Amino acid sequence: MVDYGKYYSSLANNIRASDIRELLALIKHRRDVISFAGGIPDPKLFPKSELADISREAILKYGDEALQYSETKGLIELRETLSDFMRRMKGISADPEDIVVTTGSQQALDIVARSMIDPGDIVVTENPSYLAAIGAFKAAGARLVGVEMDDNGMDTFKLEEKLKSIYSTGGRVKFIYTIPVGHNPAGTTLSYDRRKHLLEIAEKYDVLVVEDDPYSYITYENGVDTTPLKALDRYDRVIYLSTMSKILAPGLRIGWIVAPREVARKFELVKQYLDLHSPTLTQFIVLEAIKKGLVERMIKVATPYYKSKRDAMLSAMEDYFPDYVSYTRPIGGLFIFARVEKEGFNTTKLLEVAINKYKVAYVPGAGFFVDGSGYNTMRINFSYPTHDEIYEGVRRLAQLVKSE
Ligand SMILES: Cc1ncc(COP(=O)(O)O)c(C=O)c1O
Repeated sequence: MVDYGKYYSSLANNIRASDIRELLALIKHRRDVISFAGGIPDPKLFPKSELADISREAILKYGDEALQYSETKGLIELRETLSDFMRRMKGISADPEDIVVTTGSQQALDIVARSMIDPGDIVVTENPSYLAAIGAFKAAGARLVGVEMDDNGMDTFKLEEKLKSIYSTGGRVKFIYTIPVGHNPAGTTLSYDRRKHLLEIAEKYDVLVVEDDPYSYITYENGVDTTPLKALDRYDRVIYLSTMSKILAPGLRIGWIVAPREVARKFELVKQYLDLHSPTLTQFIVLEAIKKGLVERMIKVATPYYKSKRDAMLSAMEDYFPDYVSYTRPIGGLFIFARVEKEGFNTTKLLEVAINKYKVAYVPGAGFFVDGSGYNTMRINFSYPTHDEIYEGVRRLAQLVKSE
């Protein structure tokens, strides 16, 4: 028998399969359990026949190129098209040379981590934050410092206090990682004033800002400003990440980074040894989907569709949740974050009971907190379940909260 354990790197040894992940994987095929645990788009929205036509065209018309190796930083036609797309949709002005196409935003997080973090470096995040970003930063050896949030996102005054205290003890922060709109998991959106404040703080303390923005293209309220930090960035300190995952299809695995030219060049070098380049074929598909207006049509369809699911969930929560459960009212993104103010209520411990007795699943919040808190919180997804499942699932969650 070979003892494989002795061959693993310390990174591999430190990554453990989580009990929660395994528990949630088991319910995938259980029809009796309503799951709010996923974080995925509703496949009913995938524009399948249009994508089939585009894929066929990409292979038959551009096959020699679309099936060939391509440039590490992404097809120039796609980078030009993304540059135009971001300018029109978000007011971001990005030269195509400042864009790196990535294999989903997840790879962008990995590239940022590998390019910026040495073991022991401090990265500041919202508390809670996106699990897979926490994972990527930790894998690179980062020490994470979390900043408290409220309904308006990260508390930027608390952020400044944290930076002050880190700097007063000789520490140094590499970057602040933020998900300003439709936060995963917190469901919050950073207010406009705080966005400006955050940029001022980044300049004052000489840190970079990594803005992760999968969600601001689909938002549910008119009149709420969701201008990206990147579009407000006078100091050239923001590294902007976005993705086609929520506005077209995650299986295409196409995301992108906008960074100051020199940084983009560094990212390109790091990406080169990760995967040479993101799949040329899906880059062509995304290119054509944007050019034909399919992505914008998809955003127009997805916005009211998810809004009505969000509304259904909020109204079910209003009907069923006792007043000691507080929850966010997201204006974007796919998640509501709930907090149960009941002595000893532990969502991690109760997940098994939730699944087996109440037939409902959520993601326990504790894993999203970088300081080990959040045991009484849970992330609840509204994009995937149907309206009926939303109502019934929230009723079951309320039963769990009241009885356990
Ligand atoms: C905040 C955040 N960042 C990044 C990602 C990764 O997205 P992608 O599918 O582009 O890798 C997600 C996916 O849910 C996310 O919520």
